[in-house]
Amino acid sequence: MPGVIPLNNKKISRIVQTQVGIIGAGPAGLLLSHVLHLHGIESVVLEKHSKDYVESRVRAGVLEQASVTLLSEVGLGERLQREGMQHHGFEIRFGNRSHRINFDELTDGKGITVYGQQEVVKDIIAARLTAGGQISFEVDKVSIHDQLSEEPFIEYLLAGENHKLNCDFIIGCDGFHGVSRKTIPEDVISSFDQSYPFAWLGVLVQAAPSSEELIYSNSATGFALHSMRSRTVTRNYIQCPLDDVIEDWSNDRIWQELHTRLETVPDWALTEGEILEKSITPMRSFVCETMRHGRLFLAGDAAHIVPPTGAKGMNLAISDVRFLGQALSAWYQNGSDDLLNSYSANCLRRVWRGERFSWYMTSLLHKFPDDNQFQRRLQQAELYYLSDSKAASVALAENYVGFNF
Ligand code: APR
Ligand code: PHB
Repeated sequence: MPGVIPLNNKKISRIVQTQVGIIGAGPAGLLLSHVLHLHGIESVVLEKHSKDYVESRVRAGVLEQASVTLLSEVGLGERLQREGMQHHGFEIRFGNRSHRINFDELTDGKGITVYGQQEVVKDIIAARLTAGGQISFEVDKVSIHDQLSEEPFIEYLLAGENHKLNCDFIIGCDGFHGVSRKTIPEDVISSFDQSYPFAWLGVLVQAAPSSEELIYSNSATGFALHSMRSRTVTRNYIQCPLDDVIEDWSNDRIWQELHTRLETVPDWALTEGEILEKSITPMRSFVCETMRHGRLFLAGDAAHIVPPTGAKGMNLAISDVRFLGQALSAWYQNGSDDLLNSYSANCLRRVWRGERFSWYMTSLLHKFPDDNQFQRRLQQAELYYLSDSKAASVALAENYVGFNF
């Protein structure tokens, strides 16, 4: 047992040593810790919530082809390949029309896999714990220190004791509201922010999917999405006003809106079922440039967020981790900091492509309350262009399935 060491007027009860200190056990932090382990690099993950909480948090569930390949290459593909649902297209509905984006025809053989983000999280946690990985859940008061030195450290509270984690690098994977990004001085950051005048009400339902593929609907009363998690669970979304609260949405009202917004073509009906969970999420685009400050690196939602239309969030987090895993491995193997120096620029190029696409999908499919008739006609013209032009559909499809690394 280490003695109590006063530091910065704080009594530190335990000093922990590792190579890489990671804040946040979402897909970004967990995957990084796993990838580093495969490279022989030790890490400690600090997470403010419990294991149960992070494993059951409902989030999006679409993996691009490159994300599936990466997860499989690092040994996380077994359950994903077995239970993940491979999709070869999706449908866009508008007016009384339907347009299918056929991945087989429009992309170079790619598709997407529908597999809930919390399933990815469960798979990585299981792999880390089996390998003896260190994840500290329910930590509090995490703070980052000395990231501009070669001896950065993290302080946190765990089980009522102050801890100090000494490491070579600190990685902020603590999402949009985390502490890491806020540790970087404002004068070295450029941030880009766009909010949208609506939110998404998400509903998890015990019911078989009503369609083999996802349906995105731009209806007269607003956007809706029919998605799924398995052969017996569906995930539906409804565009709603920004200031709505969950109490505004009774189950009856939810079903009524879903039927109205999705049943816009003949011979198609939405199957109802028990509502297992409902929540409201605001829509936002945000990018922080830079993603590095000395020995502090940001990855995933800590550095950038996208509106969920197109489901790019988890894929961008996976892409950051891939760059960072390679960069840290090069540093530990041969002392090269070339990849660390290019980390931010390499990630941001992909991030901005995801930002553009998520903004495009959001603009294409939602009812913007302040739009005038001119803007509505432009949106309609874009939807017709998509259904009439293979080139337009190719552009949408290749962004939706994502790009190779
Ligand atoms: N200390 C410790 N942990 C923290 C702190 C903190 N101060 N703040 C946040 N966290 C944890 C959160 O509890 C969460 O588990 O950091 C984790 C961040 O995980 P995510 O929000 O899932 O972010 P990320 O891993 O970057 O994954 C991005 O998540 O939000 C979705 O749509 C997004 O799919 C995208 C993906
Ligand atoms: C989901 O299934 O949660 C989902 C699917 C597609 C999206 C967003 C969310 O564009």
